[in-house]
Amino acid sequence: MMAPFTVAIDGPAAAGKGTISRAVAAHFGLAHLDTGLLYRAVGARMLLGEDPIAAAQSLVARDLENPDLRTADVAQAASKVAVIPEVRAALLDFQRAFARRSGGAVLDGRDIGTVICPQAEVKLFVTASAEVRARRRLAELAERGFETDFDTVLADVKTRDDRDMNRADAPLKPAEDAETIDTSELDVDAAIAAAISIVGARKAD
Ligand code: DC
Repeated sequence: MMAPFTVAIDGPAAAGKGTISRAVAAHFGLAHLDTGLLYRAVGARMLLGEDPIAAAQSLVARDLENPDLRTADVAQAASKVAVIPEVRAALLDFQRAFARRSGGAVLDGRDIGTVICPQAEVKLFVTASAEVRARRRLAELAERGFETDFDTVLADVKTRDDRDMNRADAPLKPAEDAETIDTSELDVDAAIAAAISIVGARKAD
């Protein structure tokens, strides 16, 4: 069995975590878990009238296949259910087991390096200015056919940042030993290259 090798990638909404995580996982042959999807799946079930704690405790793989998980409404709902300690507790074991699976894993989220896997071999904090993130999110939404405007998306990003950073349980913040990649001035290829270079250096240790 190969020793566990965990890459923890945290950061605010729309900073490029997902793209970087998928690229790092593909490059090094690691499994990838987008932990935001777990909270989105709970948020989606709450929007359908379920109690979020009960939803988190009974989450199944099929919940993650819901095509609506990427909408702005579900993103806000995810950020709201993520404040509830019982919701976070219900999702903890699955994430920890995934992080330490043999063969290695990349997890992206808000609290991977600080709470889920403080012993991760590599910790990255991927960030960018709120304006840059809103512009990217707007382009992504337009591509998927959702009509909205910059000010609405920027307000959404800031509300979510505020809730994610200021909650009492597992707030979004860089782990002390995380390396920060600010993607405000980096294109996708440069951001991916920076992440691969950091992970590659640790893997070789
Ligand atoms: O990464 P994302 O935008 O899909 O995450 C949606 C929300 O889920 C985010 O606003 C906060 C919450 N979340 C969290 O609290 N902890 C994580 N590890 C991942 C996401």
